Amino acid sequence: MKDRICVCGAGTMGAGIALLCAKNGFDTLIYDLHPDWLEKGKVRIDKELALLLERKKINIAERAEILKRLQFSSDISECGAGVIIEAIVEEAAAKKGLFIRLAEVNTKESLFATNTSSLSVTSLSETIPHPERFMGMHFFNPATVMPLVELIRTPKTSEEVSIKFRQLALQLGKKPVLCRDLPGFIVNRVARSYYLEALRLAETGTVSFETIDQIMESAGFRLGPFRLMDLIGNDTNYAVSCSVYEAMGRPPRLEPSGLQKEMTLNNELGKKTGKGYYLYP
Ligand SMILES: NC(=O)c1ccc[n+]([C@@H]2O[C@H](COP(=O)([O-])OP(=O)(O)OC[C@H]3O[C@@H](n4cnc5c(N)ncnc54)[C@H](O)[C@@H]3O)[C@@H](O)[C@H]2O)c1
Repeated sequence: MKDRICVCGAGTMGAGIALLCAKNGFDTLIYDLHPDWLEKGKVRIDKELALLLERKKINIAERAEILKRLQFSSDISECGAGVIIEAIVEEAAAKKGLFIRLAEVNTKESLFATNTSSLSVTSLSETIPHPERFMGMHFFNPATVMPLVELIRTPKTSEEVSIKFRQLALQLGKKPVLCRDLPGFIVNRVARSYYLEALRLAETGTVSFETIDQIMESAGFRLGPFRLMDLIGNDTNYAVSCSVYEAMGRPPRLEPSGLQKEMTLNNELGKKTGKGYYLYP
């Protein structure tokens, strides 16, 4: 399968997924509602390509080829593609609204995937005509680097579509793992405690977030919880905390943290805004 791919959302994940697709030979359109976010996505992609060039992972000719395969648009009528991968904000209503519009500008043969981290894929598929062509395709951050992709079928996803998305994940050089449509799937369900316990500990005022990060990294974790939350985006991580908490029936152990909410309200979102728990000049 070498269909044109449309990636919706030019943020942290969308830009990475689009670059991954173009790098693996797919003509790729990135769509975002906000032209300024589209521009930020372009800058992010240019930076990542510069890094790949510096590390000799690609040469100048390959960079030019990748860029030729990438298009950017904030006009939804241009979003016709064989495969749509949605990576916009973690809000069910925004995603459902987008799918309805995308279905209008695509044929019933186009396949749809959502990169949601925590929302019910079955519920997201409910408003789309022909839900048998819909499934979850959950990439990890950074999408160009992390090998895992969680694939989430709904009761309506057809076998053929499930096989096609698995093939696509393999074509993108990923390791696909089929997960049940449960809150947070596997990784975000298990990792919730990593973030929430660290936040609760920091909120006691007895240990700083820098110390927690240093200790967890010394204990063998690749990134401490606060550095990881800054990479993910504190708004996205907070939205996932809220969604998993609600979907699990509000167990106290999964109650979202006040600190996470405060960071989101203050626009201290982490790497993407230049300030989170740390500064990113
Ligand atoms: N950040 C992560 O580490 C991570 C990892 C895996 C999955 N995800 C999931 O990927 C999705 C995107 O997360 P992100 O962190 O990239 O978010 P982000 O905030 O970095 O980017 C979201 C983008 O969506 C755009 N957008 C918002 N509403 C839109 C609409 N109606 N139509 C088109 N574009 C719209 C915004 O302009 C922005 O560019 C979420 O579902 C999230 O849960 C995130």
